[in-house]
Amino acid sequence: MCGIVGYVGERQAQDVVIEGLRRLEYRGYDSAGIALVAEGVIASDKRAGKLANLEKAIVGQPLPAATIGIGHTRWATHGAPTDVNAHPHNGDTGRVALVHNGIIENFAELRAELETQGHVLLSETDTEVAAQLLELLVISGLDLTAAMLQLVARLEGAFTLVAVDAQDPSQVVAARRNSPLVVGIGDGENFLGSDVSAFIEHTREAMELGQDQVVTITRAGVSIVNFDGTPAEGRRYHVDWDLSAAEKDGHDWFMRKEIHEQPRAVADSLLGRRTPEGHLHLDEMRLSDQELRDVDKVIIIACGTSFYAGMVAKYAIEHWTRVPVEVELASEFRYRDPILDYSTLVVAISQSGETADTLQAIRHARTQRSKVLAICNTNGSTIPRESDAVIYTHAGPEIGVASTKGFLTQLVACYLLALYLAQVKGTRYGDEIDQVMRQLEAIPEQVQRVLDDAPAIYEMAADHIDTRSVLFLGRHAGYPVALEGALKLKELAYIHAEGFAAGELKHGPIALIEDGLPVLCVVPPAGRDQLRDKMVSGIQEVRARGARTICLVEDGDDAITPYADVIIRLPRVPVLLQPLVAVVPLQLFACELATLMGHDVDQPRNLAKSVTVE
Ligand code: F6R
Repeated sequence: MCGIVGYVGERQAQDVVIEGLRRLEYRGYDSAGIALVAEGVIASDKRAGKLANLEKAIVGQPLPAATIGIGHTRWATHGAPTDVNAHPHNGDTGRVALVHNGIIENFAELRAELETQGHVLLSETDTEVAAQLLELLVISGLDLTAAMLQLVARLEGAFTLVAVDAQDPSQVVAARRNSPLVVGIGDGENFLGSDVSAFIEHTREAMELGQDQVVTITRAGVSIVNFDGTPAEGRRYHVDWDLSAAEKDGHDWFMRKEIHEQPRAVADSLLGRRTPEGHLHLDEMRLSDQELRDVDKVIIIACGTSFYAGMVAKYAIEHWTRVPVEVELASEFRYRDPILDYSTLVVAISQSGETADTLQAIRHARTQRSKVLAICNTNGSTIPRESDAVIYTHAGPEIGVASTKGFLTQLVACYLLALYLAQVKGTRYGDEIDQVMRQLEAIPEQVQRVLDDAPAIYEMAADHIDTRSVLFLGRHAGYPVALEGALKLKELAYIHAEGFAAGELKHGPIALIEDGLPVLCVVPPAGRDQLRDKMVSGIQEVRARGARTICLVEDGDDAITPYADVIIRLPRVPVLLQPLVAVVPLQLFACELATLMGHDVDQPRNLAKSVTVE
């Protein structure tokens, strides 16, 4: 949801900023802009559309050489994605340039105040209001850091602001409230970015900022103050992935690369979790065993794909620990006045660690004295920082807007959490935990086998290029997989897709079935609670009404063959772990179908990778 870059050093700032924006473009791609400080003036350009439009414009009309600059790639909130609404914004005199991620909630009243004073605002954005106010403060004689501190005191809402002053080529100043910003520490140069991918090419040393802080970067260093003006320190950390992890590696899309990285991502997320004695060990778990033993209810909050990981977690946690679990969409959570107390463990699942709905939900939970545990893929992000404990997934950077390896590694973290709770509470014995851990450790190789069958899935996608509607059916842990398969298809191929619990079919959705409608069915492994048999009945019912059934079935299960138009084989895994292998063909299907339809798979329309507004 908007990507932000800032740079000061010895290199050509234009190159550093544009390169940074390219890596952040997944965060928003409605428009892009850049501002440099060159010989006492702001030189800038901004264009509606993808970053490529801005790059083309700069080639035609080059910006002057400069070693300090800021840039922005936008996901529009206030005002349509036009040249004028693109960032950076300036005040009347053009002395200050400012970029912004977030929403300034009191912008209308600030705008009215500026207009009453005779200032002319050119755009419809909330950002221009902040730029005007900042410029007035700088013109009044304040240095950029002091001006930023005074500006933020007037703003309500969530924001990252990054600014430069034409008359001061030594510093870039930024402010952060409820919106992401990290510092990249270089040698004689420093960087700002919405996340570390903005500067990973230049440095892997990063600094995490706290809430409500202003940071000033110069060539020589970094200084931080709280919004109340008191000095503060950032937390330095080393980024454990490099540029190659942020490149496409020969694939046409980041998403396809990330799907193929899943065996590695799952293996990395399991690494070091089991002691030689067979005990489960979570080194980032900051909650004591006693605190976990006291947990008598778990509430999982998340959005989108992460929410579906939470649905799977419910099955696992309840099965292994007998602790009741609720799963709730983060955007709904705090508005229903949930019943929480110190013995409720709230688990927030977020790949980005920045999703505003999830962040607000955990803040609410903490005000009710509940402990919050984050499952997150992004070191240094806000959600783990504001949680009592964290389990990091080790998927590496996920650039494709549609989550894939993020989801698989969230599932792994959920299983680990469930097993860990079971271990601490004594609801499962070591042998059983050890056995599940071994089953999990076999998953990377099993996911690889599914990936090896990708050509068959791609052929199937080619057969569906004219399809306008697809249904997905699942039961038990396969139900969230059906929902996730449908979400992937909606967001990438822009076609109608719905996931249903197979047992619900006859209560309404079966009316949708018509001749030739593709129905993808996630068939549970045979042998438990007749789940598989009930699924087979559901498949028969839709087929009898003309559906084209595409069945994901474990190896060796032939009972389904007479009722399946297409069979996709899955490795044999226990029912609780089946989502780890069953979702992969659905990811491949959506990615390929969208590609064949000519859509931009990495940057689907209207979406952004991290949704930092509620
Ligand atoms: C779908 C997708 C989204 C995210 C959701 C939550 O492919 O990626 O539905 O899962 O926006 O994002 P995080 O996990 O970053 O909180």
